Amino acid sequence: MRQSNRGVLTASAALVVVSLLAACGSSLYTSTITADSVKLGLLVPQSGVYAPLGTDIRRGFELYLDGRGGQLGNRRVTVVVADEGAEPDTGVPAGQKLIQQSQVAVAVGVVNSATALGLVQQFNAAKVPLIIANAGANALTGAKASAYVWRTSFSNDDAGASMGAYVASRVDSGGVYLIAPDYAAGHEQIAGFRRAFEAAGGHVAGADYPPFGTTSNYQPYLARIQRSGARAVFAFFAGAEAVAFVKQYKEFGLAGTIPLYATGYLTEGAVLRSEGDAAVGIQTALQYSSELDTPTNRAFVSAYTAKYHSSPTVFSVAAYDAAQVLDHALANATTGPEIVAALGRLGDIDSPRGTWRFSATHNPTQRYYLREVREQDRTLVNAVVRTLTN
Ligand code: PHB
Repeated sequence: MRQSNRGVLTASAALVVVSLLAACGSSLYTSTITADSVKLGLLVPQSGVYAPLGTDIRRGFELYLDGRGGQLGNRRVTVVVADEGAEPDTGVPAGQKLIQQSQVAVAVGVVNSATALGLVQQFNAAKVPLIIANAGANALTGAKASAYVWRTSFSNDDAGASMGAYVASRVDSGGVYLIAPDYAAGHEQIAGFRRAFEAAGGHVAGADYPPFGTTSNYQPYLARIQRSGARAVFAFFAGAEAVAFVKQYKEFGLAGTIPLYATGYLTEGAVLRSEGDAAVGIQTALQYSSELDTPTNRAFVSAYTAKYHSSPTVFSVAAYDAAQVLDHALANATTGPEIVAALGRLGDIDSPRGTWRFSATHNPTQRYYLREVREQDRTLVNAVVRTLTN
C-alpha cells in the first residue's frame, strides 16, 4: 500500500454511492462503499508531539491490510490519510474533511482525546463509523457512548487504575507525586490511578499539570517534586513529552532516588529508544508489550519487525486490531448502521495483546500488564513482570 498525505491508495472502480444518509446543517454527507470496494479514512498525527504515535498506527493498519492483499471484508480498500496534528484545532477539521470531502465510509485513528471528543458529533450525525485507535477519553465509550464511535485502544483511566494498588503497596507514607500534561487525557490518566491508589491506602504528596504541547523544560516541576518529600512519582506523558520528561528526570538526579511509575505510554516504542538509559528501571502498566510471549504476539512481532525494522507498539496493535475488526464487520455490511451492528456482534478478538472483546459501550475489555524497562541483548525493552488485571 502506498500512502501520502492526503493520499490515494488504490485505483478504484466507479464508486457507487449507496448511502446518502444524514444531513447536518446545510451539508449532505455521503459515504462510499460498493460490493467490492470501500473508501476508508486514516486520521493520524503526522506532525506535532504525537507524530511518532501516528507512524506506528499507520504501520499497524498497513501490516494487517497487506496481509489481506489490500482488502477488508473482501472489499478492495482505498485509504485516504489525513494529518491530525497535535491538537483539536488541526485534528477536528481534518476529520470533518474526511467525512464531507473525501466521503469515507469509515475512519480509523485519532490520537488526542480532545480531538476525538470534538469529532464524535460529526461522525454520529453522518452515520460514519469511527474506530478510535488511540484516544482514551473516558466519555468516548462511557455510559453515553455514541453508536458510531468504537475503540480498539483503551479508556484513559484503565491503565493507571490497574497499577494503583501495586504502587500503594510499594510506597510508604511520604506518598506519590502525580504529573501529566494539562488536557483531557492527562487529567483522566491521573484520576484513574489516583482512585485505585487512594482506595488501597496510598497518599498523594502533590500534583502538577504542565501545559500540553508547549512544555519542554520540566525543571520547575522536578524541583517541586524534590521539595515535596514524595517517595515516588506517577506520570502520564507520551511522544516527545515523554522523552523530555524521562531525560530531565535523570539529569535532575531523581532517577534512582525517587522511583518513577507511569502508564506505559511513557516508555513505548520510539520514545524508549530516544530516552535510552534514562528509562532503565521505570515500571509501567499497559495492555501490551512487544515482549509478550504468546504465539499470536510472536508471529505479529516477527512480521512487523521484518517489514519496518523496529518493534511494534501498543499503538500499532490498536490499529492492527482496528483493521481486524473492520475485516470481519465489512464482510456483510454496506452502510454505516450495518457496519456498527456487525461490530456489536463480534465476539473474542485474537490480538497480539491477548484476547479481548468490545464492552457494551464499545471499549476493549482487556488485560493490563506490569512492565519494567530493562536492557536485554543490548536493547531496551519493556519486560513483562506480571499480569495486573484480567
Ligand atoms: C490521549 O490524548 O487520549 C492520549 C494520547 C497519547 C497517549 C495516550 C492517550 O499515549
